[in-house]
Amino acid sequence: MCGIVGYVGAQSALDVVIAGLKRLEYRGYDSAGVAVVADGELASTKKAGKLVNLEKQLVSHPLPPGSTGLGHTRWATHGGPTDANAHPHLDNTGRVAVVHNGIIENFAVLRAELADRGHRLDSETDTEVTAHLLAEEYAAAGDLAEAMRRVCRRLEGAFTLVAVHADVPDVVVGARRNSPLVVGVGEGENFLASDVAAFIAHTRSAIELGQDQVVELRRDGVTVTGFDGSPAEVRAYHVDWDASAAEKGGYDYFMLKEIAEQPKAVADTLLGRIDASGSLTLDEVRIPASVLREVDKVVIVACGTAYHAGLIAKLAIEHWTRIPCETELASEFRYRDPILDQRTLVVAISQSGETMDTLMALRHAREQGAKVLAICNTNGSTIPRESDAVLYTHAGPEVAVASTKAFLTQLVACYLVALYLGQVRGTKWGDEVGAVVRELSDIAGAVDAVLETMEPVRALARSLADKNTVLFLGRHVGYPVALEGALKLKELAYMHAEGFAAGELKHGPIALIEKDLPVVVVVPSPRGRSVLHDKIVSNIQEIRARGARTIVIAEEGDQAVVPYADHLVRIPATPTLLQPLVATVPLQVFACELATARGNEVDQPRNLAKSVTVE
Ligand code: AGP
Repeated sequence: MCGIVGYVGAQSALDVVIAGLKRLEYRGYDSAGVAVVADGELASTKKAGKLVNLEKQLVSHPLPPGSTGLGHTRWATHGGPTDANAHPHLDNTGRVAVVHNGIIENFAVLRAELADRGHRLDSETDTEVTAHLLAEEYAAAGDLAEAMRRVCRRLEGAFTLVAVHADVPDVVVGARRNSPLVVGVGEGENFLASDVAAFIAHTRSAIELGQDQVVELRRDGVTVTGFDGSPAEVRAYHVDWDASAAEKGGYDYFMLKEIAEQPKAVADTLLGRIDASGSLTLDEVRIPASVLREVDKVVIVACGTAYHAGLIAKLAIEHWTRIPCETELASEFRYRDPILDQRTLVVAISQSGETMDTLMALRHAREQGAKVLAICNTNGSTIPRESDAVLYTHAGPEVAVASTKAFLTQLVACYLVALYLGQVRGTKWGDEVGAVVRELSDIAGAVDAVLETMEPVRALARSLADKNTVLFLGRHVGYPVALEGALKLKELAYMHAEGFAAGELKHGPIALIEKDLPVVVVVPSPRGRSVLHDKIVSNIQEIRARGARTIVIAEEGDQAVVPYADHLVRIPATPTLLQPLVATVPLQVFACELATARGNEVDQPRNLAKSVTVE
């Protein structure tokens, strides 16, 4: 999620913008840039890497002083983290500068049209097309806000845009569809930003732009309209947060913010990858369909939470494609002398793209002739760079060490890969695949619905703060969810937590059951594979008969579990293989709340790093 700052007023635009971008550094980024309008000209600088690189560039190549400007910290999606791909993007005359947060789905079509009209595009980004379109529309309309409205009506996808033009030195315009954009209302000055942290040092009066709105900022006023030009009623509100709270969006921890961002992260990861007919469009997966059709084995390598995503992916891939699939701990993989060849597809799942265990595993796989597809959340990181192809998740930067939104988007990406393999190779489950693709398109709403009902889970977690052990049980896709729930509790609450396949209980773990021991059970849907459901209900009875305190995660309407659940957490009905997308959320909330109740540091738990770059 990129950081955006715009300014018009009496101060140095560059000073205000750079200071604002520094307040947004927490969002994670891999390049930065600024533009200033001064004396009828527009000057801009941008650099890959951190703000310090940009500041060095500004010392050696200073921009002229100006009181209108904008800036950007980029979290790369389309195109790696390079100087050319950094924002702002300019049109060919260098008189329009644009910064962007989000994904423009139809950028390829727009790019081709612009090239046909003689525009030269220098970057790999989707954003750059908006600079050229704005230049064209401004030339036609003579008004920057109107030009922005005309451009926005042509864009598909999620976007926040902020732009300036050398011809209008006291104007900054912005537009919002899905990605946030907030106005800071000052005295003789006004601000635009992706979140209030960027300007609350100057003003606490803010206006949150609504969906499909365009804002025109001048020193002495703010005008907001719809994309159609209709006036929009807006009211300023007072920002109570301090700067630190503002970075977390008002949440106490980044982890809570990232749990709340999961619906959007899931939706963003799906954006542009399912076409209107329900077919998958994964053109970015640079492995030819002819090669994918020859694949006779899939091996998934990952660590920790990403490994749990891989366990679920295995079930999806084998069911929809009938290709044998193994999921391996990356740290074990290459030491077991795995059987790989050029017909093996290795899938390396990694949020950071820098996990050394996973990187070494993919290097080993490539040495054996296997094709490697990375599923990664960090554009331009080492693992995608060393893979044959990459499918990026679009969770945005994940700051908290305990992975949440990255996990859900890894699942979405894995489902897309499984469905795509099925689509490319032909699958006997055509109707089911079509239904799942449709359900995937709605799944962000289901995740949102779960988030709305989490207060009882928080209360339960607080009541268990003095416990030493919690067990987690599941079957089929519920088993990796149980493992993930246990991992969250380990890394956050520092307590013994263990996940089991429920069918294993009688082979040993049931000896652990004692009075009042909390046991979380993830129950599969009673529809479809009801034999799994009936067996796990029996497991719940077995542990409850031995005194366990049963915490049951079950689908709405599942009545069979009611008599045996001391605590019942309802989740929306989903297709069996998609259930982890909704069943995991209560376990994330549970672990976070229990850790908080124990007074633990939630975002940076003891002994842990966000990216384990050593073996
Ligand atoms: C998950 O909450 C942990 N932070 C950890 O298990 C993590 O998933 C693992 O280290 C893999 O990291 P990666 O996805 O960046 O490769």
